[in-house]
Amino acid sequence: MATGFGLDDIIVLALAAAAIWYFFIRKPSSKPSAAEEAGSSESNSAPRSYAEIPCSNLREFTLEELRYYDGKEGRPIYIAICNRVVDASSGAHLYGPGGQYENFAGRDISRAAGKFSTELKYLDDPDISGLSSAEIDSMRTFYNMLGSKYPPVGRLVKTKSKDQVAAPAAQTKSD
Ligand code: HEM
Repeated sequence: MATGFGLDDIIVLALAAAAIWYFFIRKPSSKPSAAEEAGSSESNSAPRSYAEIPCSNLREFTLEELRYYDGKEGRPIYIAICNRVVDASSGAHLYGPGGQYENFAGRDISRAAGKFSTELKYLDDPDISGLSSAEIDSMRTFYNMLGSKYPPVGRLVKTKSKDQVAAPAAQTKSD
């Protein structure tokens, strides 16, 4: 006799439990704050996780440059959150074409992470003023998650500093 509780229900429950654990219960291996972006946390010991690598000395990206790294036509997938740009190419099943979070590829997702939304209107808006403290917590959770999972490749800037203006254009073409 059918019980009304099948394999599909078990899979859905397991996925929901995994998502809740991942986002709300799991403790990240380290806790960089958005303030760490100032680059003050240099230490003598080798970094144990990507989250410990400051991005302050890495390449500068403007939003326009970031867009190039959208995972299409073999390009890498870069994502910015709280001014940190990470290489999320290993998450191509999520961010690549057809993936659940394909909107995020080549974008700044700070505001979207705060709003817990994948809507385009929240993307590429690194100004997080106006987010509630709960939304800032949500954004930090994603920052910690992506920052520890993916290697940093740079930092998001409004305007590039002089020494970075010439090189990256050439770099963009060869990537
Ligand atoms: C009911 C809605 C949602 C469900 C069931 C869900 C489920 C999941 C699951 C199962 C994963 C892990 C995927 C994996 O590692 O293979 C994941 C990752 C993720 N989710 Fe969601 N999600 C939901 C909504 C959202 C929303 C609204 C956002 C917008 C910020 C979001 C952002 C992310 C991000 C950034 C990841 C990390 C992917 C990575 O590891 O690179 N999710 N989600």
